[in-house]
Parts: sequence; C-alpha cells; structure tokens
Amino acid sequence: MKKITLGVLVSGSGSNLQAIIDNIEAGLLSAEIKIVVSNEPEAYGLVRAENHHIGTMVINHRDYDSREGFDQGLVTALKENGVELVILAGFMRVITPTFLTAFPNRVLNIHPALLPSFPGVHVWQEAIDYGVKFSGCTVHFVDEGTDTGPIIIQSAVPVLDDDDVASLSARILKQEHKIYSRAIQLFAQDRLEIVGRRVKILPLDKTLSSTFLTNPRLEEV
Ligand code: GRF
Repeated sequence: MKKITLGVLVSGSGSNLQAIIDNIEAGLLSAEIKIVVSNEPEAYGLVRAENHHIGTMVINHRDYDSREGFDQGLVTALKENGVELVILAGFMRVITPTFLTAFPNRVLNIHPALLPSFPGVHVWQEAIDYGVKFSGCTVHFVDEGTDTGPIIIQSAVPVLDDDDVASLSARILKQEHKIYSRAIQLFAQDRLEIVGRRVKILPLDKTLSSTFLTNPRLEEV
C-alpha cells in the first residue's frame, strides 16, 4: 500500500505529532511525515521532529502582513515537500480559504472536546464549568469555520467531580493520541467518504494486500 505523505503543523508541545511519529515507526500507520512546520520558533514539536530526522521549518505569522500571505507561505512549503494531507496538531492559527483551496478536504484537525460542544480555545475549563459528565476529543476535516468541519472520529471520557484543567486535559490527550492516527490511517486507506456534514467510514478493501492492512494491531490504534 502506498504511504500517504503528511505535513504536520504545530505551535507547541507536539505530543500529538509524537504519537503519529511513534505509530508510523511501529508500522501501524501507512504514512510518511515529509515536513513539520511551526509558526512558533520555540515550539517543542520542532525538536520532536528533529529527534526523528524529520525536516522542519519555521514560518512565523508575525513576518506576514496578512493571514492570506502567511497561509500562502505555508501552502508553498507544504507543496514543495510533496505533502498530500495536512495535519493540524495544536496549530494555533486560523486557516483561511487560501489554504483550504490548495488542499480541498485534505486538512485534518484535532479538537479537545466533543464537537459541536465547546469549540474554540479554553475548552477544558468550559466543559468543567458547564457541568457536562462527559467530554472528549474530535478529529474532523477542516472547513472555513472554527472547529465546524465534518467529524471523522470522536472519543469520550468522563468528567470527574474533582477534575481541573490539568487532569481533564491529560485524560483527553491520551485519547487524542489514539484517534488522530486512526483517522489518518482511514484517510490513507481511502475509507472516508464525506456526504454533506457526515463522514462515512467505508469497509476495508480486503483485496488490497499490504503488511499494514493485514496487521491486526492496526485496528488497535
Ligand atoms: C491538543 O489538546 C489538541 O487537541 C489541541 O491542541 C493541543 C495540542 O497538544 N488542538 P500537542 O501540542 O499535540 O501536545
């Protein structure tokens, strides 16, 4: 099976990037990361990539006059590196139509709540304050809204009475590290069909023969 080529955009710690790297290295993900790009020069995600000999690039939004100009810089870098699928992994900039036109239905994001509840940024405190009994995470296609694109996978976790942001975000992050790779693998296998707002997950094509596809551990990711 062909490996899908990824470009991962980060702004911070990059623990989701690390989980994707680990799953690729474990042979669980039919993907290759071509480039990791950060808008923040100090992002630890860049160090994680370098530790695994993955190319990195800093494209600082502060160097651009407009969001479109910044996005065009990102698109150029991603295209020059042969990226097919863009992975937003804690990337703290809003993507413009300039970007989405260059990668139609080829940009994924992970959000630390069960969308459409709690879009935006301070989502763990909002979930605690609202009093929900479950929260979780969502992998979705990116569209022109903020956290509004078609949902691929969600995972739920309980919200406990004594939770604070640290404990809840840690519980959710563990699930993020599982479902992001799973969603990327489904995309790589060409099993995601967008029908309006819904994303259908198609059955595995049994005729494809590949060590990745026949690896039973794949379903555990
Ligand atoms: C994650 O909680 C993700 O859902 C959100 O930003 C955080 C990034 O964490 N979009 P990391 O940089 O992958 O550790």
